[in-house]
Amino acid sequence: MYEDIYHVPVLLNETIDLLINENLDRQIIVDGTLGGGGYSELICKRFNELNSKDNLLICFDKDEHAISFASNRLKIYSEKIIIEKGNFADMRLALKKHNIPSVTGIVLDLGLSSYQLENEDGFSFMRNTTLDMRADKEKTLTAKDILNSYSAEELSVIFEQFGEIGNPDRLSESIALYRKISPFKTTEDLTHLIDAKYKIDKKNKMNFLAKIFQALRIEVNGELEDLKSILSDSKDLLQRGGRIAVITYHSLEDRIVKLYFKEKSFKEKKSKYSIDKNDLINPEFKLVNKKVITPSYKEISENPRSRSAKLRVAEKL
Ligand SMILES: C[S@@+](CC[C@H](N)C(=O)[O-])C[C@H]1O[C@@H](n2cnc3c(N)ncnc32)[C@H](O)[C@@H]1O
Repeated sequence: MYEDIYHVPVLLNETIDLLINENLDRQIIVDGTLGGGGYSELICKRFNELNSKDNLLICFDKDEHAISFASNRLKIYSEKIIIEKGNFADMRLALKKHNIPSVTGIVLDLGLSSYQLENEDGFSFMRNTTLDMRADKEKTLTAKDILNSYSAEELSVIFEQFGEIGNPDRLSESIALYRKISPFKTTEDLTHLIDAKYKIDKKNKMNFLAKIFQALRIEVNGELEDLKSILSDSKDLLQRGGRIAVITYHSLEDRIVKLYFKEKSFKEKKSKYSIDKNDLINPEFKLVNKKVITPSYKEISENPRSRSAKLRVAEKL
């Protein structure tokens, strides 16, 4: 199917099964990462099986192409859907604009679609394209700008924090030298630099490039800040019993989700000086899955891109 060429949804049934709390009367679900619309399509199908008639799905994606592709795919459900180009970090404002004070579900399938990886500029080191990496083409900062204009110190911080690269200074200093001779333009400029400066075998080179590309992509798109912001907003946006499901694809994202859910689902003492045992702050969430959910062996063999996926779901108390 043409949808499968755009993007094969990962952990599809597992995610939507846990996202929808059928005990709630009217479902108002937000798909914050519409992509090819695979999750949204299944949510609409589930709506048809539920008793309540006025369920609503609100979808966001910051990529214009994802919006037009998925809008076309989902047009038979247009009565139940609002689709908008936008960042999920701005969900609070967007919902307010539509007079939606609270929702019963939020799903975030982070990262990139297969379409973006294979067709949009800069995301993959397997193709020679402009070092762009913007999911939202209305933004101005590109990967090329970062490589050509950030100081070596600033580059080191990104490579260390967003790529977890050991000895980031060696890489940043090589970049700072290279760009004096010829500014970075394409993905090949970066791969050539790695070939010239690092004598490593093919497998290690691939891993290294993956980390460098991940770090640049996170910086270009502000990915971790957006994630922290929506997690923090979700406790106000979700109704009691409403759920948030997050699928992550690398350890930096997963750590943020895991820690946030853990922190918010524990009873904690109001103050370390508190003497009253009952003086506790009540948790705001409960974990729906205590153990992280990962794709089956079968799913990974059919869709290798799913291999690093991790699903965590929490319910607002
Ligand atoms: C893995 S794909 C989602 C695939 C989707 N679940 C499906 O079934 O087709 C991730 C999508 O999220 C979008 N995205 C990533 N970060 C975003 C953000 N902060 N706000 C809105 N969209 C975002 C990307 O542009 C991409 O289209």
